[in-house]
Amino acid sequence: MEWKIEYSVGDEELDRDHMTIFNAVDRVKKAQKNGFADDFISILLNQLLEYVDGHFTKEEDYMADISYPDLPAHRDRHVEMKAELVRLRNQFVHDSQSNLDELVPFLSDWWETHILVADMAYKKYGEDKQ
Ligand SMILES: [Fe+2]
Ligand SMILES: [Fe+2]
Repeated sequence: MEWKIEYSVGDEELDRDHMTIFNAVDRVKKAQKNGFADDFISILLNQLLEYVDGHFTKEEDYMADISYPDLPAHRDRHVEMKAELVRLRNQFVHDSQSNLDELVPFLSDWWETHILVADMAYKKYGEDKQ
């Protein structure tokens, strides 16, 4: 997986966040594939969670700045995603293998359906404001 210019949402800082998330998701996938220790994967998940939390706040502030009309629905999805990520992270401690089987598809789907679809939807509002 590689970040491409087509993935840009039109804001440099948010693009940088997305690249970081993209790489963090990739690291979790690789760690799982290569059978890395659970402790190591836990650290990656905590880093991802912390980073995502900051990103969601920044993204919501940006959407408010550009008067994005779908901000409330987008914010709800962030809340759901964060709750799901916290749940999966906590579950990982109890049953790491079955949890990873659920976690890795969740992270991939998140990239494909949230960042590349839902986040892309605010792009044109940002462009119109410039
Ligand atoms: Fe985002
Ligand atoms: Fe988002």
